[in-house]
Amino acid sequence: MAVATNPLRAGMGAVRRAGPATLVIFGAGGDLTRRKLFPALYNLSADGLLPPNLSVVGFSRGDQDDDAFRQDMRRAMGQFSRRTPDPDLMERMLARTGFIGADFDDPAAYRQLAERLDQIEKEAGAGKNRLFYLATPPFAYPVIAKRLGEAGLNTPPAGGHFARLVVEKPFGRDLASAVSLNRDLHEVFDESQIFRLDHYLGKETVQNILVFRFANGIFEPLWNRQYVDHVQITVAEAIGLEGRGGYYDHAGAIRDMMQNHLMQLLSLVAMEPPVSFDGNAIRDEKVKVLRAIHPFTPEQVASDVVRAQYAAGVVEGQAVRGYLEEPDVAPDTATETFVAAKLAVDNWRWGGVPFYLRTGKRLAKRVSEIAIQFRRVPHRFFQALDMPEIEPNVLAIRIQPDEGISLKFGTKVPGPAVRIRGVHMDFQYGSAFEGTSPEAYERLLLDCLTGDATLFARVDEVESAWKLINPILDEWAEDQVRPTPYEAGSWGPEEAMALLERDHRRWRRL
Ligand code: BG6
Repeated sequence: MAVATNPLRAGMGAVRRAGPATLVIFGAGGDLTRRKLFPALYNLSADGLLPPNLSVVGFSRGDQDDDAFRQDMRRAMGQFSRRTPDPDLMERMLARTGFIGADFDDPAAYRQLAERLDQIEKEAGAGKNRLFYLATPPFAYPVIAKRLGEAGLNTPPAGGHFARLVVEKPFGRDLASAVSLNRDLHEVFDESQIFRLDHYLGKETVQNILVFRFANGIFEPLWNRQYVDHVQITVAEAIGLEGRGGYYDHAGAIRDMMQNHLMQLLSLVAMEPPVSFDGNAIRDEKVKVLRAIHPFTPEQVASDVVRAQYAAGVVEGQAVRGYLEEPDVAPDTATETFVAAKLAVDNWRWGGVPFYLRTGKRLAKRVSEIAIQFRRVPHRFFQALDMPEIEPNVLAIRIQPDEGISLKFGTKVPGPAVRIRGVHMDFQYGSAFEGTSPEAYERLLLDCLTGDATLFARVDEVESAWKLINPILDEWAEDQVRPTPYEAGSWGPEEAMALLERDHRRWRRL
């Protein structure tokens, strides 16, 4: 399918370049910095979107010096950047990169950081703008925010424009801890300074949901209970824990994926058109969706939520162990690695349209998709032709991999008889656009630097999502609900199939 322009750029504003700033990365010794942040910085620089005097300070435990940290980041960019790094550009970036090895709780280290920032700003002639990125485990967020405040780093120095704080999901582990985290952060930073990053919002295909819906006149009239039978959202992963057992066993699929990534997808699909493409206007509409979903009653948790855990099996041809045998996982843990749920968005547009969500690890393959399944035709005059039931139309938004959108419709099979088969009208990013898409972190880092919070979770969004998830957590804990086992490499347990079958529907085969 030919594609003319990218309306997102037009709709959400032209490409902005970041102005002078210093990025301070807490937890700079961790995987996120290596795999995502530095490669993203490299690609943004290569695209000319960062100022030449952007400086970076890594802050982490450890006794590395500036050179050792630079060497680490040099390797990381070589290994993880989507483009082969140009050595000159990389060296120019690294020349403005330094490191402070200290404990997150050490007040003296923050005084040292403040001096270092003053010095950088003087030497590099950079603006006095500071972005503090917390790439640390979440328990460190409150103390880092507090220490930054004590050192006076929560506001820009005279002549500067911003001091911003970026925190990564998970934002709390239930409603109470999310509220308490937000309170701690708000004691030091204003909401407008806080950027809560959910990397799903940085994916091109996720941003395209808004463009697809609101930059095309033909879909929106169909996007409601009159035409839509139900919506399916699947985020399936083939991978297991990837060495993150310690974290994951305390989170599980519902906290790790459902509360954030899937709720974001759901609110983008279900929201009303915003009055403008302004960050708050969009987030207002997303919050309204979350508020329109009734929190689960204990009975609904039992009937409409499936909790499951992978057992040994074969994924993509490889034999893999079960969750209980994974390192750093408690031997009798009840942590789920799969969750499926049926939700109702109780508003004028969606009344009576179920939303089915599922996500899990060690499933048959990696695929994320949102499928809008339309109602069947109202009059079945083809029945007389003794044909199997005509498949309903489906609009599938493929988030990853093979990013694209496809519309399924029935067509006549050539020949003298009337036979109908479902065919697809396809748009594929890979063939419609040249080059590789930017990584989610590129877009999101640039947005933090330019101050555009549209693609970040606002405080009320996070807390509204937890209000939905909390009753499930409570019910599971109270009833000691053990997850059902499913074979690694499958599509989850029977109960997940039954969730749709009892409504005379089925999950799409992906
Ligand atoms: C992260 C989760 O937020 O998202 C991981 O913590 C998960 O467990 C990952 O694997 C999935 O992200 P993506 O971009 O690979 O779909």
